[in-house]
Amino acid sequence: MTSTTTTLSAPLELPCGATLPNRIAKAAMSEQLALRDGSPSDRLRRLYAVWARSGAGLLLTGNIMIDRDALTEPGNVILDDGRAMTAVRDWTSAATQAGASIWAQLSHPGKVAVSPFNRRPVAPSPVRSDVPGYSFRKPRELTARDIDDLIRKFARSAELAMAGGFDGVQVHGAHGYLLSQFLSPLSNRRTDSWGSDPVARQRLLLEVVAAVRDTVGADVPVGVKLNSKDFTHGGFENDESLAVAVALAEAGIDLLEISGGSYEEPAMTGVAVGQKERAHEAYFIDFARQVRHETSVPLLLTGGMRTPAHMEALVADDIVDVVGIGRPMTFVPDYPSRVLAGDRPRLPQNPPTVGYRPANGYLELAWHNDQLHRIAAGRAPQRRPGLRTLVRSMARISKAAIAQARIPR
Ligand SMILES: Cc1cc2nc3c(=O)[nH]c(=O)nc-3n(C[C@H](O)[C@H](O)[C@H](O)COP(=O)(O)O)c2cc1C
Repeated sequence: MTSTTTTLSAPLELPCGATLPNRIAKAAMSEQLALRDGSPSDRLRRLYAVWARSGAGLLLTGNIMIDRDALTEPGNVILDDGRAMTAVRDWTSAATQAGASIWAQLSHPGKVAVSPFNRRPVAPSPVRSDVPGYSFRKPRELTARDIDDLIRKFARSAELAMAGGFDGVQVHGAHGYLLSQFLSPLSNRRTDSWGSDPVARQRLLLEVVAAVRDTVGADVPVGVKLNSKDFTHGGFENDESLAVAVALAEAGIDLLEISGGSYEEPAMTGVAVGQKERAHEAYFIDFARQVRHETSVPLLLTGGMRTPAHMEALVADDIVDVVGIGRPMTFVPDYPSRVLAGDRPRLPQNPPTVGYRPANGYLELAWHNDQLHRIAAGRAPQRRPGLRTLVRSMARISKAAIAQARIPR
């Protein structure tokens, strides 16, 4: 018997039967390019027309909100009713014109819904998230009826995503958003069947996945983004995450993306992870190996990957099936094609840090988000970070926040 080595350019057949054209995914990056009513703008379509030819086989959208009363950021796309369908179809057609798949990342921020436009955030328990610089309000504890309603909203969003031409969906269960809050013993202090122990804390994520699967059918890809851990003391840790990964594999998901962190500890962009993980260019690789050992669910690893040889090795050594690339694609939109050609394009240095992790995490996001807006406007990314970038991002966010406070209901 001969064994063949899997390369980054090899297609991947998922458990549902759908195929990804290669092993590189564009990671989700909140674009904040929707119109006031949550429909995709022309600029969002133009951004994805650029990424359509990036070489990534899978394009994961940034946060798409399942409920217009719970936004993660101003300018998020909202899929909670059919009003945006024409623009959504234009967006997905632009994204898939060169053969890539596009999946909708379905998301709910829970208690980290940014005020002032989220007046009554909800959460598993009334525990406020205290991150200086973000004005998160004390959330209202969800009732059992609210939770049933939320599950229906995720399913409805998945249904709209299918109608809008997405090839699959990814349920956002990471980064300290609602589903991740349910998983965390720090945020979820409930004593009922949605939170009394680790199995109960998994329940909402699993029920959302089951409802989404029922809606989209057996042959459409359903993925989940999960934290390896939250990086907060007493929070969601590796052992519980491994149990969730096993449960998700048993639930029949098609792709598990591994990430980590939250607003408090933005490990997803490498801010809170160790030197060793940063040096290895794969922040969550140790956990990926553990999941690989325990399950056969296809794995997508995101966070820190830059060098073609490293990425090739991750796939060739069967540690993961797909590698995710985020920030490089804001400066070099065809980074995946370059990786497939064995190139490592030079990237600008990181933005300046201010010595405080949540603020550093915010700067990192703002700087990269600014590049997305430049590409969407047909301009070249700006390779030198400056104070102006930050000021521009803040101004844009404030403007969008004010506009979205008057979001049409
Ligand atoms: C501007 C920006 C926006 C992001 N928005 C999202 C998001 O909407 N959903 C998500 O799951 N991750 C989001 N992330 C995290 C990325 O998906 C990814 O996990 C992270 O950037 C690490 O990958 P990288 O080192 O290749 O950039 C965002 C990252 C950046 C830089």
